[in-house]
Amino acid sequence: MKHLLSIEELDAPTLNALIDSAVTLKAERGNHSTQPLAGQTWAMIFTKSSTRTRVSFEVGVRELGGSIMFLSSNDIQLGRGEPIKDTARVLGRMIHGCIIRTFDQQDVVDFSDFSEIPTINALTDEEHPCQILADLLTVKEKLGTWEGKKCVFIGDGDNNMSRSWIWAAKYLGFELVVAAPESCQPPKDWMDKVNAPNVTLTSDPVEAVKGAHVINTDVWLSMGQEGQAEKEALFGDYQVNAELLSHAADDHIVLHCLPAYREKEISEAILELHADTIFQQAENRLHAQKAVLAAIAQ
Ligand code: CP
Ligand code: NVA
Repeated sequence: MKHLLSIEELDAPTLNALIDSAVTLKAERGNHSTQPLAGQTWAMIFTKSSTRTRVSFEVGVRELGGSIMFLSSNDIQLGRGEPIKDTARVLGRMIHGCIIRTFDQQDVVDFSDFSEIPTINALTDEEHPCQILADLLTVKEKLGTWEGKKCVFIGDGDNNMSRSWIWAAKYLGFELVVAAPESCQPPKDWMDKVNAPNVTLTSDPVEAVKGAHVINTDVWLSMGQEGQAEKEALFGDYQVNAELLSHAADDHIVLHCLPAYREKEISEAILELHADTIFQQAENRLHAQKAVLAAIAQ
């Protein structure tokens, strides 16, 4: 594995191997005898805010023996208009790998092409692959497996989280229902490209949640969409709350990648009721990303 640019470019064996490795790394945390990044320097270039991703990568790279620097795009020349391909060619001559959070997926692809160093997508408008790995790890820990489970994604069905979940469902074969207002569902040509008969779309959240084991939600307005009141108004019926969850399987879990907007996509009561799972999911960012870094360093 040289890069992690998307879930789309992965396959079932790779996903399974990464989750298995994350389980091992989590169990062995504190035993830092394996240092696959020893002698390496990594950088993070972020043009969007972050708590979990930034901290988990800083800790993860260090725990694997490397060093890491955080480069806000405002502080480097990228923020003044220096092209990504020039930034990539400079950094590629100095560092060993780069973790990028930005808007356009193409910027991450271009960085990997021009830098010729390992590149990890830490969230773009298209995908959030690191988060999905942590989500899958959490499902495995809480339910034992995703096989035979009904998973639901409720909210903006056409954002980075829903798309990464859809690709994961395609490769791993579990049932995924995406419940979203029609105008916030992935377009037909995109779904045709994914070609996953086990993924269905609906605008009926109650129908989606019926018998579901994993209920997953995310913000209605992703970073860069702040203030889009018209879009936000579409989601009135899509809040994950006690009434909606009364239709789920008895042993369901609730996931939220965080940050959460209480009384918008999730009620305060449900977030707190499922806080153990949701914050375990946040912690799992560290373990899942260490698995990615270790796979790249091999
Ligand atoms: N879930 C997630 O990516 O969180 P941050 O935006 O805080 O990194
Ligand atoms: N869809 C959200 C995910 C945040 C981790 C966003 O892009 O803002």
